[in-house]
Amino acid sequence: MTYGAIVTSIRTPDASGQVADIALGFDSLPGYLGASPYFGAIVGRYANRIAAGRFTLDGVEYHLAQNNGPNSLHGGVRGFDKVLWSAEPFENDSAMGVKLRYESADGEEGYPGALTVQVTYTLNEANELIVEYEASTTKATPLNLSQHTYWNLHGEGRGDILDHVLQLNASAFTPVDSTLIPTGKIAPVAGTPFDFRQSAAVGARIDGPDEQLRFGRGYDHNWVLDRQGQGTLALAARLQDPQSGRVLEVRTTEPGIQFYSGNFLDGTIKGKGGHVYAHRTGLCLETQHFPDSPNHSNFPSTILRPGARYQSRTVFAFSTRRS
Ligand code: BGC
Repeated sequence: MTYGAIVTSIRTPDASGQVADIALGFDSLPGYLGASPYFGAIVGRYANRIAAGRFTLDGVEYHLAQNNGPNSLHGGVRGFDKVLWSAEPFENDSAMGVKLRYESADGEEGYPGALTVQVTYTLNEANELIVEYEASTTKATPLNLSQHTYWNLHGEGRGDILDHVLQLNASAFTPVDSTLIPTGKIAPVAGTPFDFRQSAAVGARIDGPDEQLRFGRGYDHNWVLDRQGQGTLALAARLQDPQSGRVLEVRTTEPGIQFYSGNFLDGTIKGKGGHVYAHRTGLCLETQHFPDSPNHSNFPSTILRPGARYQSRTVFAFSTRRS
């Protein structure tokens, strides 16, 4: 829908052909206008956190809303998830979709530059949902766009995601402090509960005695994807539900992915069909540049300059497999 460029529903069959909606959300607009934790939305201008809502660019210090403890989260008070986009549907022989556009004014939420953003959602006959991002700016600005769907491969409202089996194509992650800001280290996952190079159940190690898991109240971290070459589509994540047989594969041109295990869902939200979204009943796989990059010169740059074109692409591929 045009509000927040939100994907409201994704219906896929399980291994025996039973269709369910595997995306958390609401039945109608008022739910999304209320306290939605970014269900299905495009997040920006800067996905995830910027420390203390502050960064310096070309010698000028900029201040953002501190809307998440001391930090700025997902673009501030009124991020791209809370604005109205314009939409143009399209259809061709093998695919259909919608092009969404948003003009973010110079200074909006404290960010420099008038930014033109286009997000294209395409659904094709290979059962892929392709998300393509494009943007240009009038002044240098940090930019990091992501898609914030909460997945539950049983079907939304059907229990937690702890039995989902996850594989992340990443040998390293970016550890955080207690406010979930990266320390700046790129740490190997080997020997930690963050090693998902071999697939593992989300719940297998989630409550283990690990400081990083304690800070995240579970998984809420950025993984550094193993990839060959920049800007090409590479496998980031593979999520499988042994119960339903549903499989979700995520491929992206981005260098990172935020795996968030829905730790802040606490049963206060009633979603579709009146379903109560309790602790860890949905998980996010947010392809992205690393959190707080404007304050970490060792992270890949997130600065878009006038004359340059921001381009990014993520593919969510749906299939089934009997285990
Ligand atoms: C963040 C979580 C946050 C959630 C919003 C995720 O992208 O990493 O910390 O709580 O978005 O509900």
